Amino acid sequence: MARNATTRTEAKSGSRAGSKAPARGAARAQPALPDRDAGSNRLDTPSDFSPEAVLAISDALKVALADTFALYLKTKNFHWHMSGAHFRDYHLMLDEQSEQIYASTDELAERARKIGGTTLRSIGHIARLSTIKDNDAEYVAPEDMLRELVNDNKTLTRSLRKAHAVADEHDDCATTSLLENFIDTAERRTWFLFEAARAPDRDGR
Ligand SMILES: [Fe+2]
Repeated sequence: MARNATTRTEAKSGSRAGSKAPARGAARAQPALPDRDAGSNRLDTPSDFSPEAVLAISDALKVALADTFALYLKTKNFHWHMSGAHFRDYHLMLDEQSEQIYASTDELAERARKIGGTTLRSIGHIARLSTIKDNDAEYVAPEDMLRELVNDNKTLTRSLRKAHAVADEHDDCATTSLLENFIDTAERRTWFLFEAARAPDRDGR
């Protein structure tokens, strides 16, 4: 606090000094920032949502983000430990899916920050919130990997839908539209995994 107080004092004296012409080469006085630390949260980005709405939406986004990180790591785990006759196809498909999953993490986290909420801070935070189970098995058969990821993508879809319902309740259309895209891509991954894992019919189709 003492350091912040000093910084504000310096900013104020800088503003006063700005009334005279600054000496050549002197730093230009910066406009004073709004004083937001008088008992308020410094991460409290201004928005027109109520504090309750910000909390509810960002909490739902945290769970969706925790599941997204958990699914990302499991998809990479199976990409790294894939084996068998379809190694190349499955290995590449899971790499493509992991990139898509990872790309959504920053958008989910920053959506919460845009409205003044907070987001995940650590691996421990992910573990506490995620609804997707780890798989630390030494060996997992290729088709079992795909079937497990089908279920995990469905679990992620449920978390995204829950967050969508919370955002919709508070008329947060930017969050709902973001989530709609992620629901669509999770369902696409589920489709690809399901088809790849399906045992061939009797006539080989
Ligand atoms: Fe790789």
